[in-house]
Amino acid sequence: MILPLFWVVLILLWENVTVRFSPMNLSEETLKKIDDVIPRYPEKRSAALMVIHLIQEELGAVDLEASEWIAEKLELQPINIRELITFYPMLRETAWGETHVRVCRTLPCALRGSYATCKKFEDKLGVKEGHVSDDGKFSIEFMECLADCGEGPVVMVGDQTYEKIEEADAEKMSDLMLKNKLLNSKKYVSYEKAVDSVQSSKS
Ligand code: FES
Repeated sequence: MILPLFWVVLILLWENVTVRFSPMNLSEETLKKIDDVIPRYPEKRSAALMVIHLIQEELGAVDLEASEWIAEKLELQPINIRELITFYPMLRETAWGETHVRVCRTLPCALRGSYATCKKFEDKLGVKEGHVSDDGKFSIEFMECLADCGEGPVVMVGDQTYEKIEEADAEKMSDLMLKNKLLNSKKYVSYEKAVDSVQSSKS
């Protein structure tokens, strides 16, 4: 059957509009998680932080377009979302680098040398804390407590935690990161990897 020209044009226009307004190219998986999480709250607005986290997990940041999309989904104003993103330090309006280094600057870690640790990462990776390197590969954040205060200076690279990282270690870790070899290093084993290997040796 031949479709009348009017319907063909309408379908093409609809597809175009659908593609243009697709929510920031989020994966089906993230969209499903968002749709699942919202009804778990008594009011839609209470799901705001969870939705922001889910989007940041996939896109690395929640920009203006994303804020507007969330606001519409939760029947809020974009400012309600922006104020959350600007209030919480872990939430981002622009993405960090491909490899994001966090160094704890709170007193217990500071007393053990975390300022020198952070400075060494800055020098070796060629990026100042709070910034992303020009090639987008590295970013550094000098931030408050990473919740491992007895083992400082504490450093996180991505989602992996490294303990007792002094200035000299920061230099060696940077060299490994620049060669993309940190995760396979035998000298620098993250807390998470150590726990995994203990658990798998028991099972
Ligand atoms: S003070 Fe550094 S992890 Fe808590």
